[in-house]
Amino acid sequence: MTIPFDFAPRLQIPLIVAPMFLVSNPKMAVASCRSGVIGSFPAHCTRTREVFAQWLDETEDALRTAEDAGENPAPFAVNLVVHPSNARYEGDLALVEQHRVPIVLTSKGAPTDVFQRIHDYGGVAFHDVASARHAEKAVDAGADALIAVAGGAGGHCGTLNPFALVSEIKAVTDKPIILAGGLTCGRDVLAAEALGAAMVYMGTRFIATQESNAPDEYQNCMVAGSATDIFLSAALDGAPANWYAPSLVKAGIDLEELAMTKPGAIVTSDGQSKQRYKGIWSAGHGIGATKEVLPVETLCRQLIEEYANARKDFATALG
Ligand SMILES: Cc1cc2nc3c(=O)[nH]c(=O)nc-3n(C[C@H](O)[C@H](O)[C@H](O)COP(=O)(O)O)c2cc1C
Repeated sequence: MTIPFDFAPRLQIPLIVAPMFLVSNPKMAVASCRSGVIGSFPAHCTRTREVFAQWLDETEDALRTAEDAGENPAPFAVNLVVHPSNARYEGDLALVEQHRVPIVLTSKGAPTDVFQRIHDYGGVAFHDVASARHAEKAVDAGADALIAVAGGAGGHCGTLNPFALVSEIKAVTDKPIILAGGLTCGRDVLAAEALGAAMVYMGTRFIATQESNAPDEYQNCMVAGSATDIFLSAALDGAPANWYAPSLVKAGIDLEELAMTKPGAIVTSDGQSKQRYKGIWSAGHGIGATKEVLPVETLCRQLIEEYANARKDFATALG
């Protein structure tokens, strides 16, 4: 594993448990970090700036306690939406600076001085990109690594094939790449490295975990579902995102109509747009890998073991 960051020796596997709106929380992040993978949560998962400050305190206290007990946890990361439409951006960034959050996962928009401000306190910034053009802009603005969000990712996704996306990004920059989209097991992590990624993101694989904030009904869907249940649409909130189709149908959404609907124009049979996200679940093509709800630590241990075995098998195969 070649991760060009100081924290590399603290990782058991080059993995970031991706930030997920309404799913991530400090307990999940801490359990990930204590298992030797980078844990994270989005700032906008918290309803107010005060709650965001509490989440940062809770995470830092738990990781400090683990260190005092002789553990060597991975660093944690926070996702910050750097688009001008994010009214909390300035206040949340000020908290990130105050807490010296080690890794900031920036998403959306064209970042301006945010990377400089993160570097000034000693943090690193990884920016979400879905094309080589996005990657060039992020590198010009000072991003330390690029999160290549490929087709099949959960949440707001890219639409490009991961092979094509990584190749095109590598043609314009040698910044480290973190591959996202449909990765679910240790073998996938090794495959991403073979492709040229330094690390990977896994979101969907961690929705059905004991620490996750996903309600039971959502977690059960993750166990029951498979890749063909995932429906790509930009109609719900304006950006391409992957949704668990049975939850759309249950909410009264006609999938054929949705497929023809313009970005951002939600279609519900009853027109109750305010309730539109209640019971509608997002997940990526990796949904089929979830067979049971596990504690984060158990899932991370599984992934670390799978990764070690995949490396051994591949070394044997290469002779
Ligand atoms: C339910 C859900 C919510 C998400 N929310 C966010 C978010 O708030 N911010 C963000 O940067 N990415 C978000 N994502 C995207 C993930 O960070 C990540 O890119 C994606 O999950 C990777 O693909 P995978 O789900 O196939 O592993 C979300 C993904 C899911 C499944």
